[in-house]
Amino acid sequence: MMTNPEVRVFKDLNELSRAAAEEFTSLAQAPPSKAFAAALSGGSTPKRFCELLAMPEFSAKIPWPRVHLFQVDERCVPPDDPRSNYRMMREAMLAAIPAVHFHRMATEEPDRSAASAQYAAEIRETLGTASGEWPRLDVIYLGMGDDGHTASLFPGTTALAERRVAVCPNYVAKLDMNRLTLTLPVLNAAKRVIFLVAGAGKAEMLRQVLRAPASAPAEYPAQLVQPESGSVTWYLDQAAAARL
Ligand code: 6PG
Repeated sequence: MMTNPEVRVFKDLNELSRAAAEEFTSLAQAPPSKAFAAALSGGSTPKRFCELLAMPEFSAKIPWPRVHLFQVDERCVPPDDPRSNYRMMREAMLAAIPAVHFHRMATEEPDRSAASAQYAAEIRETLGTASGEWPRLDVIYLGMGDDGHTASLFPGTTALAERRVAVCPNYVAKLDMNRLTLTLPVLNAAKRVIFLVAGAGKAEMLRQVLRAPASAPAEYPAQLVQPESGSVTWYLDQAAAARL
């Protein structure tokens, strides 16, 4: 069980996405001095949120040149592959926001550890992170799978235990796919974590993650996201929240 997470329930995915876009806009409007750094997950749930950010209603109010967008995780496929998270973000919003700094995970790089290290260095440099400290992103948007995974931290995979580096490769046997992912120490160093979860297919796992007694640590990775000095908010639609 997670200790007192904030939960907000919306009618449907569109309402949830609008609330998330409104919050992003106000967070980005009060950026810290260096940059406003946000990390976005892939998959299908954040698509509407991304589309809304690119619409004039929100986009015109966001100081894009000060915004740095990072990826939470990426599938190791070419950037134009339909499974690419980058492709989803490009089509949903990036093409319409030329001023934003978007940091893409280089999944075409055959040495995945090198690509991960390079990405971690990019995050540190952008945030001005001191050596020996974990980069502290302003906000990280996560999703959750019906197996309790979050980012590309799947139950039973090696990346779940990674505590030394900020970004690492992860092979996901059940999908037979390689991924690059932010690791738990970076997720837990964030100032703010926002889970976006929608659909009836997530209802039972949400009950397990938010309400059931603590499970074996590797069982439900989403439960392990508990920032040390940051907040966690769950944005749910009614279908996903049905069993809470
Ligand atoms: C990915 C993710 C992943 C995602 C969940 C939920 O690249 O797949 O970042 O962690 O957030 O799998 O995905 P859906 O939103 O598609 O249900």
